[in-house]
Amino acid sequence: MEKFENYLKTIQERSKHFIGYPAGIDFEYSELYPLLEYNLNNIGDPFVDSHCDMHSREFERDVLAFFASLFKAPRDNWWGYVGSGGTEGNLYSLYLARELYPKGIVYYSESTHYSIQKNIHLLGMSSIVIRSKENGEMDYDDLAETVKLNRHQPTIIVANIGTTMTEAKDDVGRIKEILKSYAITQHYIHCDAALAGTYLALLDKCRFDFAAGADSISVSGHKFIGSPIPCGVVIVKKNYKDRIGRSIPYIGNLDTTITGSRSAVTPVFLWYIINKIGREGLLKRATDAMDVAAYALEQLQAAGIDSWRNPHALTVVFRTPSPKICYKWQLATQGDWSHLICMPGITKAIIDEFIADLINPQFQEQAQNEFAMYQ
Ligand SMILES: Cc1ncc(COP(=O)(O)O)c(C=O)c1O
Repeated sequence: MEKFENYLKTIQERSKHFIGYPAGIDFEYSELYPLLEYNLNNIGDPFVDSHCDMHSREFERDVLAFFASLFKAPRDNWWGYVGSGGTEGNLYSLYLARELYPKGIVYYSESTHYSIQKNIHLLGMSSIVIRSKENGEMDYDDLAETVKLNRHQPTIIVANIGTTMTEAKDDVGRIKEILKSYAITQHYIHCDAALAGTYLALLDKCRFDFAAGADSISVSGHKFIGSPIPCGVVIVKKNYKDRIGRSIPYIGNLDTTITGSRSAVTPVFLWYIINKIGREGLLKRATDAMDVAAYALEQLQAAGIDSWRNPHALTVVFRTPSPKICYKWQLATQGDWSHLICMPGITKAIIDEFIADLINPQFQEQAQNEFAMYQ
């Protein structure tokens, strides 16, 4: 047990300086801990009850209905499930796109999360990478030129609704205009909204939903919502999903998801926060978090640190600081740039503490000495 106790102490300590990765940390789930005493499983389709009762499909369906409404899914033509995370949602969506258009080409920007490339590889799909603009958004001119050259083949587009490093959003409206201008009728748009989808939809700040032209949307449940166990929600058009999935007598259910066994606990975590604070409470969390992000940028700039932020982003980007600061604050770093993400639970006091470290000359000196030790 000593190993476990030490581990607990470490994560308790490290959780105080966790600003580089997107995890909502403001919520308390202890009422749900009794769930962990049971071996529960949501295997199969969330909308088909099986002969085994140890599941939480009623909660999962509530969560799916919430996200379907949030993302303006067509009332009688949506389906979805709670899976392991944004990666699985992306895989499932690309799988549907491939079943619909086996000869389709997938287009995605160079700022796209690595799960897209991996999933394309797993599915054996053809793909083309599109240039990104400096802020991480897709370069629409490059998209238009590339799509035009391949207009004889179905077009599958992955739009980023919050890129991992800079939280840039691709414009689904502009993408649709490009498809229309080349008379491409066989197309599929998947929105990878793992990071920002939930709060942007709540704030009504970015038109990426089904009404705007999405065919599928996936989000992570451990990011903005903040489930303590990684999970994700994928919502798709039901008529596309109906093309796959078969009945499995052994589980008394339909095999419509990527994995067999699925967590029955994570849907209850998501359900709990949605029901406890409601859409209004979630919106307030989003507004408060945006406020902290604006404050962080203001304070970084006031301290003379080269920094910026995309519109409606909780991510603030700045020049990569010393290795010691990157380590202490668990910053995500790509070359010269690092970021912090003001997910719910990151307070202005935490930002102040971080900036105090950033501008502390002694801290910098120590960091350089320490860094020299590793050279
Ligand atoms: C834009 C984007 N897509 C997909 C993912 C993968 O999500 P998950 O870690 O939930 O599988 C991430 C994770 O950071 C992400 O930022």
